[in-house]
Amino acid sequence: MTEVNGARRSVCIGLLGGLAGMALGGAAKARPTVDDQGKVFRLDGGKVTYAFGLNPQGQLQTLYWGSALAAADKLPGAAAFRENSSNETQSVVTPFEFPGFGGGLTVEPALKVTFPDGVRDLALRYVDHQAGEDRIVVRLKDVSRAVHVTLTYAMDEATGILSRSATVENRTNSWIQVDQLAAASINLPYQDDYQLQYLTGKWSGEFTLETRAITPGSTVIESRKGVTSHQANPWIAISRAGTDEEAGPVWFGALAWSGSWRIHVDMDAAGNVRATAGYNPFDFSYRLKAGESLASPAFHSGYSDEGFGGASRVFHRYQRTRILPGAPTPRVRPVLYNSWEATYFAVDEKTQGEIAEKAAGLGVERFVMDDGWFGARNDDRAGLGDWVVNRKKFPNGLAPLIRRVNDLGMEFGLWVEPEMVNPDSDLYRAHPDWIIHFTGRPRSEARNQLVLNLARKDVYEYLLKMLDTLLKDHNIAFLKWDHNRAWSEPGWPGVAPGEQQRLYVAYVDNLYKLLGELRRRHPKVEIESCASGGGRVDLGIMRLTDQVWTSDNTDPFDRLMIQDGFTRAYTPAVMMAWVTDAPNFLNKRVTSLEYRFLSAMQGGLGIGANLNHWKPEDFQKAKQLVADYKTIRLTVQQGNLYRLVSPQKNSPRSATLSVSPDANQAVLFAFLHASSRMERQPRIQLRGLDPKKVYTLRTISGTVAPETPKQASGAYWMGNGIGLMLWGDFAAGAVAFEVQ
Ligand code: DGJ
Repeated sequence: MTEVNGARRSVCIGLLGGLAGMALGGAAKARPTVDDQGKVFRLDGGKVTYAFGLNPQGQLQTLYWGSALAAADKLPGAAAFRENSSNETQSVVTPFEFPGFGGGLTVEPALKVTFPDGVRDLALRYVDHQAGEDRIVVRLKDVSRAVHVTLTYAMDEATGILSRSATVENRTNSWIQVDQLAAASINLPYQDDYQLQYLTGKWSGEFTLETRAITPGSTVIESRKGVTSHQANPWIAISRAGTDEEAGPVWFGALAWSGSWRIHVDMDAAGNVRATAGYNPFDFSYRLKAGESLASPAFHSGYSDEGFGGASRVFHRYQRTRILPGAPTPRVRPVLYNSWEATYFAVDEKTQGEIAEKAAGLGVERFVMDDGWFGARNDDRAGLGDWVVNRKKFPNGLAPLIRRVNDLGMEFGLWVEPEMVNPDSDLYRAHPDWIIHFTGRPRSEARNQLVLNLARKDVYEYLLKMLDTLLKDHNIAFLKWDHNRAWSEPGWPGVAPGEQQRLYVAYVDNLYKLLGELRRRHPKVEIESCASGGGRVDLGIMRLTDQVWTSDNTDPFDRLMIQDGFTRAYTPAVMMAWVTDAPNFLNKRVTSLEYRFLSAMQGGLGIGANLNHWKPEDFQKAKQLVADYKTIRLTVQQGNLYRLVSPQKNSPRSATLSVSPDANQAVLFAFLHASSRMERQPRIQLRGLDPKKVYTLRTISGTVAPETPKQASGAYWMGNGIGLMLWGDFAAGAVAFEVQ
């Protein structure tokens, strides 16, 4: 796992040397080709072709990105620039692959540097390239100064997903300062109907889908928070006006970075569209000493002409097969119990043991104890950072509870928030200088906590030792790794003023290194990325964590929207959801247990209700639904997802269908917000089945329309559809279609 980190540090510069490659996803067999003149570079994979060319000035320009071209198709070389006027010069209207700030560039640069003599002009020109098994690596250099840039283009053969990254290397004799570094610029040729989709949000309202027309001007989505953030997620999709869920072109991409990031989308004066994705240049500055280099995160991008559904299916597949720690065959998510909403900070051996007994009876496979088990942690005001078992709550340590959980046939999981500290903690009292801060300035708290400076070697080593010991001393199968606040006062007093802003990169590098090292030492331990819910979900953290906590919002109705947004970008294979109590703590909404289960069963199923309050009939129902879930979860988590009816735009109903890769099982979930005015529910037409196979219907929950056959061909279920008898408020049904 450390290769992510390693690559960022050490591209020096054996072009195809493994590190950059590993960072982009390991070996594969796409088909990179370069024409005889070494001027047209082309990558083919899945149903996609990507091509770029070298223009007569020695600059790289985008030539083509879209549906697969014929192998014999010859792409015209990169054309001489087309200047619009003296106000829209060539450098403004040319679709550069990786523009440096210089030569009159006034559109978004991919790289901007400052030299010690005040020069801030960078004119990158082609030096050489190598084409490897699945990738093309191109080296560029400034026209006169020894600033070298290595661009890596790696394409996954199966999905056509292109991973791009850039490394800038200082071979001058002095320092240079990197002011801005992107992984890539992507370019689309002029069209007058491009649409941009992206995901915004807030705590308990993550993954809200936004759509806007791309017109002259810029759209900036970003995090300035030191962490991926709830407010925006580093994913975009660009489509045409006619694109819908299942047809039309979609270009999409996501940045693999868990710190401050930015994606800048703009349309230039000539109508070309450009998206630049990388480190957030806000407050960014990375000084490179002579001989040092800085690598960007990877930007993973793809194309589908099968609409938003096709785009997300191919991206999900890529994540499962190339990104997740278990790739290409990630482990199925076990059914989990989590104590947070049930007992909050009031955890102790007795209560947790009692709940564990009940959870085991439901078929739960992993029991997770959340916040409150350590230090003086009785609320969020104290104890964070003191990772010693609270002996009042656990007089004999954690071992008796873990043993009891294991004896019940479940794995044991534990909540930690390693990067944070309460000022009221022994750790902070001992090391007040360990946090991110500016000398002599206020230290702003959020949730009564401060952020440890993980960029520091001593903090890194302390956390590694603490977590390693915790895992060595206990039979812990899973860590829920939380992160509950954004950064403030982003100073690093331990290093020279000119170096302090390295924090933005060095912190995240060390986070990845820490996770990677823990995984190396404890290969069986799984980790969940949580940041007050879905505040740290991105392809960088997903390389090192097995699942993500999607949102603290466990209201099953709100979740339909959050999950719909989530799956636009990320695979349900990592998307966790819990069944909690009604009325829900957030919205006070009351929903049935079935509704709550069906909403949560669309991802990795968890239960977070206080089982001590359940009635016998609740246990009976839940036990059955957990058993049913186990029969469909592989398909739900790792199958092909069709968002048949989206809950977006206040739709009164929604439905998803997951189809196993061999098309032998499909699982339909359908939800109705509210019945009114005697409105009828339309039949739901399935997708993605094999028209010739015969599927037998198995009702998991709800009632199918009386005329529904027990068995029919895929053609029938797709052509005729199925009626579900949904009425009342917050009604739901689930049906499996199976080839016997
Ligand atoms: C925020 C998380 O999102 C919750 O699930 C819970 O773990 C709390 N933190 C604990 O403090």
